[in-house]
Amino acid sequence: MPHTPIKDRLIVALDMPTVEEAQRLVAKLDDAVGFYKVGLELLFAGGLDLAESLKAQGKRVFLDMKLLDIGNTVERAVSNARELGVDFLTVHGHDLKTLRAAVTGRGASDLKLLAVTVMTNLTAEDLKQQGSALAPSDLVLHRARLAYEAGFDGVIASGQEAAAIRAATGPQFLIVTPGIRLPGGTTDDQERVMTPENAIGAGANHIVVGRPITQADDPVQAALTFHHHIRQAI
Ligand code: C5P
Repeated sequence: MPHTPIKDRLIVALDMPTVEEAQRLVAKLDDAVGFYKVGLELLFAGGLDLAESLKAQGKRVFLDMKLLDIGNTVERAVSNARELGVDFLTVHGHDLKTLRAAVTGRGASDLKLLAVTVMTNLTAEDLKQQGSALAPSDLVLHRARLAYEAGFDGVIASGQEAAAIRAATGPQFLIVTPGIRLPGGTTDDQERVMTPENAIGAGANHIVVGRPITQADDPVQAALTFHHHIRQAI
């Protein structure tokens, strides 16, 4: 497995309405967190500038854009995104054509491409509605194999699927797991949730945590608690 410093194993999702609020949280978390995810909510409120500013502050940045389009468009979008100097970028992992186009767009840069397998808020019933008869775990594994074959660096999946993905891919493939909750914590709108210990124990390299930290009364203490749970699992 690639060596991942404990501090980088926790990625805090900056799902907040404004860049100012996100910056206040980053300042508050200070040394407690070194890796942040900027996603769709902030994209339309200055999120790309925030991503560059976080990089300038020495943080690692996961740009969660969940790209999905025709190959040519995805290739050119990834090619432009790599100029931002971020560390991780997501692309929906539905088909090999899109995945391969993203790999071409990434070129020789250090940008790590992660394929979104099946969103962690979806259940078997939701997939049936989309027209897929597969169970979430089977569809996740199928898409993880496609991403591996296309030359992606890793996938986004729930901790519940991490062990099967690790076995089907290899030690270098990155497994990044959202839907992380402490035992007894509220699940919000997430469905396929797992504790940090179990996700890391099952082979996840990084856990993504949003609301349990961003909405905590004491976000620093909450981040330290997640680090503690990660340490327990290693
Ligand atoms: O607040 P919470 O910890 O549930 O946030 C999870 C984060 O992970 C959100 O930013 C969400 O967009 C992201 N995510 C997810 N499931 C995926 C991919 C990304 O929950 N499959």
